[in-house]
Amino acid sequence: MSDPNPKAARRATATVGAEAVQRCVLPSCAAGYGIREQIYVCPRCGGPLEIDCALEAIKQARDLPKLWDSRAASHDPRDRSGVWRYRELLPFDDRAPIVTLLEGNTPLYEAPRSAKYAGLSALRLKHQGCNPTSSFKDTGMTAAVTQAALLGARTVVCASTGNTAASLAAYAARAELQCAILLPQGQISPAKLAQSMDYGAIVCEIPGNFDDCMRLIGELADEPLIYIANSINPFRIEGQKTVAFEILEQCEWRVPDHVVVPGGNMGNSSALGKGFDEMLRLGLIDRLPKLSVIQAEGAAPLAHLFASFESKGDTEVENFPSQIDFVQHPRTLATAIKIGAPVSWKKALRAVLRSHGSIITVTEQEIADAKAIIGRDGIGCEPASATTVAGIRKLVGAGKIRAEESVIAVLTGHVLKDPDYVSNYHRGTLSLGLTEQGSAPKPLHITGAFRNAPEKIAASKNAILESLERRR
Ligand code: F0G
Repeated sequence: MSDPNPKAARRATATVGAEAVQRCVLPSCAAGYGIREQIYVCPRCGGPLEIDCALEAIKQARDLPKLWDSRAASHDPRDRSGVWRYRELLPFDDRAPIVTLLEGNTPLYEAPRSAKYAGLSALRLKHQGCNPTSSFKDTGMTAAVTQAALLGARTVVCASTGNTAASLAAYAARAELQCAILLPQGQISPAKLAQSMDYGAIVCEIPGNFDDCMRLIGELADEPLIYIANSINPFRIEGQKTVAFEILEQCEWRVPDHVVVPGGNMGNSSALGKGFDEMLRLGLIDRLPKLSVIQAEGAAPLAHLFASFESKGDTEVENFPSQIDFVQHPRTLATAIKIGAPVSWKKALRAVLRSHGSIITVTEQEIADAKAIIGRDGIGCEPASATTVAGIRKLVGAGKIRAEESVIAVLTGHVLKDPDYVSNYHRGTLSLGLTEQGSAPKPLHITGAFRNAPEKIAASKNAILESLERRR
């Protein structure tokens, strides 16, 4: 490590590791549990758990940004990882043997075409698809699998719409742990499935949807040698919260007005909310960015709840409801977020309300066209990620985001995660319903506004030049 001011750094590196506890997030309970207890929900009331990082243990918080920054030049794997270089705020002690693929450190791109499309003067895209397994899941998985190894787990498991599975499979392979993944049969992008197979996971294809897989995971939770790596696992969230730190670092600690993320199982929004909140509590920022979550119209239980809540003019955190109507048959071509019963909805809702953000839906057409525009910026992403730009456009239209405000959209997966979708969009064959299970009445065809289909062309110079001329 090469700390420029070792003394200040040492003061700041009083890590939270030893002091952290697992705590029930429900204010009426708030029970605390030891950091190495293998639990996923509060044993007393069944509420969601999060890590209470005892931030008061950090004495010189103002020194942290410099320390984190200085690690960029180091060769220590803990410094090279965009998660572990924030280890002062992670619930592990310094000697923990970490399982890393050098995740994080992803780019924050300017995206002028996407900005214009959304009605903004500027827009930045934080591309979490540039992680080792090409999705944002890696920042959480490095922490969850490190915890699994510390607990002496034999097997790690998850339910997944594809990306969690690919990520867990890779980190489990690094840690030499057995890995089993539960996937809804026939509803996963082949590219994601291929990753899990390649990383050596036991792939269990379940008849049913993601929510059915998640229910099965709940049943496995009491097996002592099995460790669950879905985002109900609070250690996953600890890894993922570091993305908030990295965003602020990339913004030179100037707080963006809005951060916008897709919503599926709601781990990502919960994690970002926690990360920004910790920065505020440490005094490293003086306000929270407004955190907004975008769901696909056919899989949007939290957006529906939020709308009913907002229509009553009541968006106070204290009054947030304890019940939600889940969507029984979620439908969307953005298969990553085809989820009707998100496990982390309470944490996500709390984060959005605290920051005065929104939760809204976008249509299949809006997702598809926004995705193509992100591609035109030379960036690209998978369909679920494009809900962000589609959602920002809608929020701008509704006056909830102003054109000159600073906005960051978090892209969660790489464009190659779902090549069939991309190809169908550009060839004009994208539709929802044909291959869906359940009661889809008739297929919904997407006519892409930005199609770019390949052209069959004669093998001659002239034919090529003609084609270029035609498309100028
Ligand atoms: N974007 C992508 C590309 C995803 O894979 C997911 C979730 C989300 C957004 C939503 O994030 O669940 O934290 O709200 N994928 C999970 C999986 C469910 O199994 O891969 P979330």
